[in-house]
Amino acid sequence: MPVIKFVKEKKEVDVPRGANLRDAAIKAGINLHQGLNGLGASVNKFVNCHGFGQCGTCRVNIVKGMENTNPMGTVEKLRFRCPVPTPVTPGGVDPIPCMAFIGHEATMRLACKTQVNGDIEVETGPEVDLFGENFFS
Ligand code: FES
Repeated sequence: MPVIKFVKEKKEVDVPRGANLRDAAIKAGINLHQGLNGLGASVNKFVNCHGFGQCGTCRVNIVKGMENTNPMGTVEKLRFRCPVPTPVTPGGVDPIPCMAFIGHEATMRLACKTQVNGDIEVETGPEVDLFGENFFS
């Protein structure tokens, strides 16, 4: 049985092979929807796309065991690479998931689109480095 280790929360959960990462986090009482660097986490816990890969608020870093997840699909790639219209963002377009993806291309996933097929370690709510060297360069 695969084990998901939530690094920040210091919590480990056993899940069946093929489990959805977002569902497993919710069952474990972990809020994946952290907004922008924690800002909006309480709102995003309820205001999100509920697993359709549209809002990008469930983004996580897979710090270990990326090979034990499914490959990134089209919806997920699109969400990270283009500021696509989203039904849950005032104004309709949310660039934050794209900004967060910069510099984390090999580790960032949408939890709602991630299948767990083996042991993984997950960092929830990875911060967006708004002033780092990867930004505006
Ligand atoms: S819950 Fe909206 S993208 Fe995952």
